[in-house]
Amino acid sequence: MSNVLIIGAGGVGGVVTHKCAQVPEVFSEICLASRTLERCERIKAQLSRPIRTAKVDADKPAEVVALIKDFRPAVVINVALPYQDLPIMDACLETGVDYLDTANYEPPNEAKFCYKWQWDYQDRFKQAGIMALLGCGFDPGVTNIFCAHAQKRHFDDIHTIDIVDCNAGDHGHPFATNFNPEINIREVTQRGKYYENGQWIEIDPMSVKMSFDYPGVGPKDSYLLYHEELESLAKNIKGVRRIRFWMTFGQEYLTHLRVLQNVGMTRIDPVEFEGHQIVPLKFLKALLPDPSSLGVGYKGKTCIGCVVEGIKDGKPKKYFVYNICDHAECYKEVKAQAVSYTTGVPAMIGAMMMLTGKWRGKGVFNVEEFDPAPFMEKLNQHGLPWIETNL
Ligand SMILES: NC(=O)c1ccc[n+]([C@@H]2O[C@H](COP(=O)([O-])OP(=O)(O)OC[C@H]3O[C@@H](n4cnc5c(N)ncnc54)[C@H](OP(=O)(O)O)[C@@H]3O)[C@@H](O)[C@H]2O)c1
Repeated sequence: MSNVLIIGAGGVGGVVTHKCAQVPEVFSEICLASRTLERCERIKAQLSRPIRTAKVDADKPAEVVALIKDFRPAVVINVALPYQDLPIMDACLETGVDYLDTANYEPPNEAKFCYKWQWDYQDRFKQAGIMALLGCGFDPGVTNIFCAHAQKRHFDDIHTIDIVDCNAGDHGHPFATNFNPEINIREVTQRGKYYENGQWIEIDPMSVKMSFDYPGVGPKDSYLLYHEELESLAKNIKGVRRIRFWMTFGQEYLTHLRVLQNVGMTRIDPVEFEGHQIVPLKFLKALLPDPSSLGVGYKGKTCIGCVVEGIKDGKPKKYFVYNICDHAECYKEVKAQAVSYTTGVPAMIGAMMMLTGKWRGKGVFNVEEFDPAPFMEKLNQHGLPWIETNL
């Protein structure tokens, strides 16, 4: 029985709060905190169980420290934005509380998607005797756990991993992003990159694509992108020769994105406008639909998984493990679309692993460093069943 502090009342924060509220035997008291209190109140009103809410600016560690000292959580689940990762980790260090997030730290003025800043907290977390669990959403998160499961149960040697991510849903808007627009657009407009034979190979954005037949969805064009889990998997999956990440995009999305890029609306550097400095991407975010508002009427499915090739018992093997998630079903359960759902459920399970002692350690960890079995079992019980097959 432990208190949990959830920071960030967006699309993902709503799902984490609903899912923690469904497991009172682990999460005895819940506090949902965000920059805008009304967003916390809106989520609180959807629940059948009382929770606490609070206003916090997580860019300011002192505000987070004060909230932690008052509420006394056993773990802080950070589902605000990647910019808040380090200030919240600082607050956890100061108060001796465990930390979990779903996206790596990002400096505001450069799109980097790398773990260096957070891995640099290793010694400080170890010395403080506390644990940080990084990247515990779906991708990163479940995809890393799928790889650890493949390594443990299905292969003697893993040669290649292809992470395939498809959202075949329709939200009815001409252009919207399924999670925070700023982070999403920074991610897809950066140069592509994959890992092969100990090296990182860079490509132009969206310049390599393949068609993949997604179960429950059908064949879809999938584009090679850089995604942060490639960095930790290249380090933690022993002997892997190549890891790539693929994501589907509809033609409408790609056309809008190309126009927005061409006119400079995806820039992350400040520009002078009528005497003010504005960052075009932040302005664009203000115009686009809020990801937490997309759930109503969202139809279709997501399918995300890992195709793994290697050797088992001296023979070549190709294996696929994946989850299919239905937008409308998610909305029925927690008033959110499937991208928020597939991120929020693993964040809740990760916190559960930490609080029940299934995953323990002192220092900073990526999810594939722990035993995948108890986590995979909970995925089946809490709304993200997985399927595995040989190809
Ligand atoms: N691993 C995965 O599979 C995966 C997938 C999708 C998303 N993600 C990550 O999940 C996180 C949340 O995504 P989302 O779609 O829920 O985004 P979102 O809807 O934009 O929500 C983010 C929330 O963070 C809050 N926030 C921002 N700055 C804050 C600050 N300084 N202090 C306190 N709260 C602050 C905002 O609160 P206010 O509105 O109150 O200002 C906002 O509601 C992001 O980091 C995203 O990258 C991970």
